[in-house]
Amino acid sequence: MKRDISMLIKEMTLEEKAGMCSGLDFWHLKGVERLGIPSVMVSDGPHGLRKQDDSGDHLGINDSIKAVCFPPACLSACSFDRELIKEMGIQIGKEAQAENLSVMLGPAVNIKRSPLCGRNFEYYSEDPYLSGEMAVACIQGIQSQGVGTSIKHFAANNQEYNRLSCSSEVDERTLREIYFPAFETAVKKAQPKTVMCSYNMINGVYSSENPWLLTDVLRDEWGFKGYVMSDWGAVNERVAGLKAGLELEMPSSNGTGDMEIINAVKDGTLDEAVLDRAVERILNVVFDYIDNRHNEKLELEADHEEAKHIACESMVLLKNEEMLPLKKEEKVAFVGGFFKTPRYQGGGSSHINSFKVDSAWNCLNGEKNVTYVEGFSAVDDVYDENLAKEACEAAKNADKVVIFAGLPDSFESEGYDRKHMHLPDCQNRLISEIAKVQPNLVVVLHNGSPVEMPWLSYAKAILEAYLGGQAGGSAVAAILYGDVNPSGKLAETFPYKLADNPSYFNFACPKKVEYHEGLYVGYRYYDKKEMNVAFPFGHGLSYTTFEYSNIRLSADRITEKDTVKVSLDIKNTGDVAGKEVVQIYVKDNTGVCSRPVKELKGFEKVYLEPGETKTVEICLDSRSFAWYSTDINGWFTGSGEYEILAGASSRDIRLSAVLNIESSQILPLNLNINTTIGELMSNDKTKKYAIKFQRQLDTFFNGLDDTDIQKEDAQEEDKAVGDEMSEATTASTPLRNLVGFGIYKKEEMLALIEEIKIENI
Ligand code: BGC
Repeated sequence: MKRDISMLIKEMTLEEKAGMCSGLDFWHLKGVERLGIPSVMVSDGPHGLRKQDDSGDHLGINDSIKAVCFPPACLSACSFDRELIKEMGIQIGKEAQAENLSVMLGPAVNIKRSPLCGRNFEYYSEDPYLSGEMAVACIQGIQSQGVGTSIKHFAANNQEYNRLSCSSEVDERTLREIYFPAFETAVKKAQPKTVMCSYNMINGVYSSENPWLLTDVLRDEWGFKGYVMSDWGAVNERVAGLKAGLELEMPSSNGTGDMEIINAVKDGTLDEAVLDRAVERILNVVFDYIDNRHNEKLELEADHEEAKHIACESMVLLKNEEMLPLKKEEKVAFVGGFFKTPRYQGGGSSHINSFKVDSAWNCLNGEKNVTYVEGFSAVDDVYDENLAKEACEAAKNADKVVIFAGLPDSFESEGYDRKHMHLPDCQNRLISEIAKVQPNLVVVLHNGSPVEMPWLSYAKAILEAYLGGQAGGSAVAAILYGDVNPSGKLAETFPYKLADNPSYFNFACPKKVEYHEGLYVGYRYYDKKEMNVAFPFGHGLSYTTFEYSNIRLSADRITEKDTVKVSLDIKNTGDVAGKEVVQIYVKDNTGVCSRPVKELKGFEKVYLEPGETKTVEICLDSRSFAWYSTDINGWFTGSGEYEILAGASSRDIRLSAVLNIESSQILPLNLNINTTIGELMSNDKTKKYAIKFQRQLDTFFNGLDDTDIQKEDAQEEDKAVGDEMSEATTASTPLRNLVGFGIYKKEEMLALIEEIKIENI
């Protein structure tokens, strides 16, 4: 329906306009009845509906309506399947329509900087490309149903500790390359109706009042068209926030924020046009929802099946020494409280009131060769000698034992971070006891983020079920018995131990967290350090095997503006049908600046019958090769060689091809009196000056003239170690020292610098 929103705004009073910019209560925006502006509701998110009654709470513990808990992002990201995530979004969008929810508060795309972040279970990945692709699919799915999304938490919200007051201290290149891209891709490709700003500060400025973040980057650079809302209680100074680009304060601040806006307009410190623009942005989204209202029914059972399907497609088989799949004729002892009571979601604002929950026990109980003993509880860390004895006995009398281990609820949640990466001691202890009596040991893990595995070497199979959503239990049973062939791949690295993680020294600090590791997050760090890890990013096994061959590029020489198509053949070389996630990484060999060894820039999931071969085509866009240079305030692609790597994981590269890029981009010289001779030497265009300065220094120190130097050059082989030192010293000499040595007068040097600059523009 066509309506004139600017006319509507003209008819609104100052109070009504200020009122539109904050919540009515915990979940509703205000309406203006006399003007036909409805009060709409928003709701968490991200992996299902948490529609609360009027009595909202911040902890997600008050009852919400019965709904479907789809797999949280820690698991669904492992599907590496855009269509699947989109499908999940469509179902959530339909449910939101059925429940009259205008915006779903998700997806949550913060990068998993540390395995300890209490909310990692809600986030997709340590990798910005994967996070971005998942976010786009989720947003497109939900918004296809006429319901908005709120991508969150923008930005650099990577720990729970002091999240409302802490500052994430991150350099710009790292923000641009690691912490922003998921938001950037989502905005550019899927235009979420809203963005939720984060609680924290970035480099000392609250996200909720950061004009660079909310306006310069989000709107002016990326083209965001919707409205920005605050995370719940993230507003610091309301008027500063509005000016910076924060349109909606959530939840209600009981009139405080509104009054500040009204006063600021009245006393002239806030231009009313800024308020009008904010109201317009909010109303555009409100009416977009109203105009797309349609009837939907909650299809809980059908969505439960969809939730199971997503879980089946995402769980990751970490290890398998001919243990899985289990056979019906084998006697199997199942141990661990999670068998009956799976942990399938995390605590906090995403907590869903599931209308039903599958457990593996529901699916397998009553089967002839299945026994179950608890061994340890799913809720605490108490080693019970009697339960342990019973479990060892059952394991000994079986052909195989499958231990359902995991993190109890209290170990990870929104609101606090983990202190360590351990499973409860009682579980580790029982696993080692059982291994003494039954070597055929399988572990199934229920956790929202990586755990240390002291039993890694002797567990013969490990299935990472993550938090599987309400149907996760039946998905586990289906995978264990081979009804489903696992095809998930890790969306994060599993280090051997916490201390291996690059954020180890700078995490959960009270006031400021310094992101010293910079770009080197997750596999970018472990690769650079050549460090062994328990399981690498992108890893995941199948009950079949795949062969990669015949990689080719659509061009082997391109410019920095071009795209390139990577094709390769993939064959299912095993006996059962299966899916493989082909991953494409780019390695920059130009040496222009420090870059990760390789970065994920494309992937595709392929289904193959036994013996079948398919050709996979993956397009790499121009951004795939670029890095962010603060010298040009933009993306830069250096000229030279890049390697295109195709792999089954970040540490299992099967094929590679070389690509040459001829880039027209040149980094500015930023030449000044403190530029070193070495810097001039490393740039083709200024090399001749560096050589000249070098000779002048040689003459100055050794009394050699040009002819002597040429003679010396001819006797190169006789040069001793001392020359290396002298070369290094010369290379690190700044131009000002040539003035200091009296080789140039200061004015002469400054004039020469100008001359070099002009020559190089
Ligand atoms: C969380 C958000 C959530 C909001 C509403 C906040 O505490 O950080 O992710 O959407 O509450 O529940």
